[in-house]
Amino acid sequence: MLTRRHFIEPDTFTLEEMETLFALAEKIEREGGYLRDSCKGKLLGVLFFEPSTRTRLSFEAAMIRLGGTCLGFAEPYSSSTAKGESLADTIRTVACYADAIVMRHPKEGAALLASRYSSVPVINAGDGGHHHPTQTLTDLLTIRQMRGAIDNLTIGFCGDLKFGRTVHSLARTLARYPRITMIFISPPELAMPSYITERFAGAGVSYEETGSLDTVIGKLDVLYMTRVQRERFFNEEDYIRLKDSYILNMEKMAMAKKDMMVLHPLPRVNEIAPDVDADPRAAYFRQATYGMYVRMALLSSVLGVVC
Ligand code: NCD
Repeated sequence: MLTRRHFIEPDTFTLEEMETLFALAEKIEREGGYLRDSCKGKLLGVLFFEPSTRTRLSFEAAMIRLGGTCLGFAEPYSSSTAKGESLADTIRTVACYADAIVMRHPKEGAALLASRYSSVPVINAGDGGHHHPTQTLTDLLTIRQMRGAIDNLTIGFCGDLKFGRTVHSLARTLARYPRITMIFISPPELAMPSYITERFAGAGVSYEETGSLDTVIGKLDVLYMTRVQRERFFNEEDYIRLKDSYILNMEKMAMAKKDMMVLHPLPRVNEIAPDVDADPRAAYFRQATYGMYVRMALLSSVLGVVC
């Protein structure tokens, strides 16, 4: 039962609860009108204190397709945050008007704090360089759709693994699935934080770290590319030095398995050459579509219109 629960960290839901969400998302996709109007009369507070295209619009599209309505802001300067209002007070206020709140914020832990002040469910749409659990639902649904199951996979995470919240949430969640090998590909400065990897040792998760995409690409079933997170760097020189560490192009794709999937949470900057888009292994725009279906499943469950 996901009704009225917060969704802050990727471990919030059990694997069985996630399976239920994926099955529901697949049913919504298959049967065009399923759950249409089920959220009629419900309001979703959409509070984005950081830029977004896919996450915000897919949540809004999901709510509108379920017959509900969204209210909120896409940047904080148009809200009383600009006058110095605390996050706690903003949340307490929006909870008076909305049935659930989706929130993105530049500070790690902001969604958890919001959940402590909210009388309605809070969904974390990204808290700084920490977590992004609904992107994980999107990523896993995409893998499930394209490979049939989330099992027996070698997945490479490539790019900014230090600040990339989508990789933190996805790696932590994949560690709960059977027969998963993770390969973390990054320059040493952008390596996966130890607060993620230290959990793996005890859980018997198989992983390795490398600086070279070329040497491992041939082993991968899934390649998860990421953008170097400019906004989280302390200085511009470091960003400029590291931003083009990895560029996936057709030359590299030629070294990969014929059925390797390329995922990317998007936005892409330079890390995937545009001609890769035409390769059938490039799944990132399909991934964006699944993001809407899985958010429809999540919202209908959290708002209690399905059990
Ligand atoms: C990601 C994010 O915001 O963390 N985008 C997304 O939600 N799809 C990845 C990124 O910004 O690089």
